[in-house]
Amino acid sequence: MSLNTLQNKIAQKSALVSVIGLGYVGLPVACEFARMGFNVIGVELQSERVDKINQGISPIEGNEPGLEDLLAGVISSGRLHATGDYQELKQCDVVLIDVETPVDENNIPRYAALQSALRNLGPVLKKGALVIVESTIAPGTMYGTVLPLLEESSGGQLNRDFYLGNCPERVMPGKLLQNLDSLSRVVGGMTEETANTMILLYRNVVQADLDPVDCVTAELVKTVENAYRDVQIAFANEVALICEAVGGDVWKVRELVNKSPYRQMHLPGAGVGGHCIPKDPWLLAYGVQGKDVPLRIIPAARAVNESMPGHVVQLLGEALASANRTLAGAKILVMGYTYLEDSDDTRNSPSARLVDLLQAQGAEAVVHDPYVAGYQGDLLQMAQGCDAAVVMVRHSEYRDLDLSSLSKALRSPILVDGRRLFDQSYLNKNGLVIREIGRGVPKP
Ligand SMILES: NC(=O)c1ccc[n+]([C@@H]2O[C@H](COP(=O)([O-])OP(=O)(O)OC[C@H]3O[C@@H](n4cnc5c(N)ncnc54)[C@H](O)[C@@H]3O)[C@@H](O)[C@H]2O)c1
Repeated sequence: MSLNTLQNKIAQKSALVSVIGLGYVGLPVACEFARMGFNVIGVELQSERVDKINQGISPIEGNEPGLEDLLAGVISSGRLHATGDYQELKQCDVVLIDVETPVDENNIPRYAALQSALRNLGPVLKKGALVIVESTIAPGTMYGTVLPLLEESSGGQLNRDFYLGNCPERVMPGKLLQNLDSLSRVVGGMTEETANTMILLYRNVVQADLDPVDCVTAELVKTVENAYRDVQIAFANEVALICEAVGGDVWKVRELVNKSPYRQMHLPGAGVGGHCIPKDPWLLAYGVQGKDVPLRIIPAARAVNESMPGHVVQLLGEALASANRTLAGAKILVMGYTYLEDSDDTRNSPSARLVDLLQAQGAEAVVHDPYVAGYQGDLLQMAQGCDAAVVMVRHSEYRDLDLSSLSKALRSPILVDGRRLFDQSYLNKNGLVIREIGRGVPKP
């Protein structure tokens, strides 16, 4: 099949589309292409996920507007079905790869899922199919890893037997469908014609700019945009520490700084989590491994953001000391375990790090999270007998919390707010001793 033939099939929506990896990214992508009239096969390793999806039930449990209904619709119409069997991909014209791409404990990309997907795909790849990696990958991965592996596993040759591109996703849990539809994308093709064919495909689901680029540029843009965010958050966190030390309020400072032209200071907080932001800066850094490029800002930003749960422990220790208590032997209510508000995603959760640090100090953590099985329950009941509470996630449910009831339920009325969830003037009325990230005591 030539690219011309494929373009016609895409235009007529007769191209058979496959999505490998039905997680936070792959599932909504598969649903969107099915909604737009393509027949879609989703390939997923986890059989219980496959079963759920085929019953029209979303395995994503956080608040994901529109996804549950869309999935039920495209499953019942027969436009989408999930499978664990790569043999079903034999007729697919377009294959999107959306598997996880984490880093290991040494911050080196762990591409086991990507490599396994490519090894399984190669033997069943249709001649003339277009393969698009949507996963986030280090600069150089398309040429260094993906292309050789696909040529080896398929026995085919690029631009003769298959076409290849990289179109990284920009979605965020909580807004998966909305982001897919409305955020622009960089569309990296191994050739210009491939990129243009990809644009024809993505135009069906994306209502924003689709910018054709080469694969290295696509890899760079995705990892740079997330590294940028990490660096900006680290800066905000460092300013928060400065504000605490000199008696300022980082939120007020940020608001006023951002009135100055071209300043867009980010939000500080109790840590950075999720699948992407903690590891994408390392993917960017890995792109220059072995080359003489000194990297200073990326590792420094990572270190600052990784230190924030430890800073929360410090604030807790200080607040407990003011009530003549110590962390050792204390019971701490941890409010929120996901990395993001109103999501069920616990990957690289700053709360997990906090719990480890508390335990290392001899404290016991009582974790509450409305979206995580095992941590659900009545917050005020869980607060009973705790020596302090700490807000780690801005879940909507916490915003309506009756703080005077929380104050009464806690053994000592101490609250550390790691996300500036509550307005301090309100807190003062509830007899709570409050410590907040980024707010120091003004000097007389
Ligand atoms: N989560 C996000 O917000 C987000 C946003 C933008 C980009 N990304 C990127 O998208 C990619 C996917 O992220 P995610 O959050 O969807 O991950 P995920 O872990 O939620 O989903 C990946 C899915 O792929 C499946 N899988 C793994 N190997 C497989 C294989 N060989 N064959 C079939 N299925 C396989 C896993 O079982 C899992 O269900 C990553 O590269 C990530 O960096 C994620």
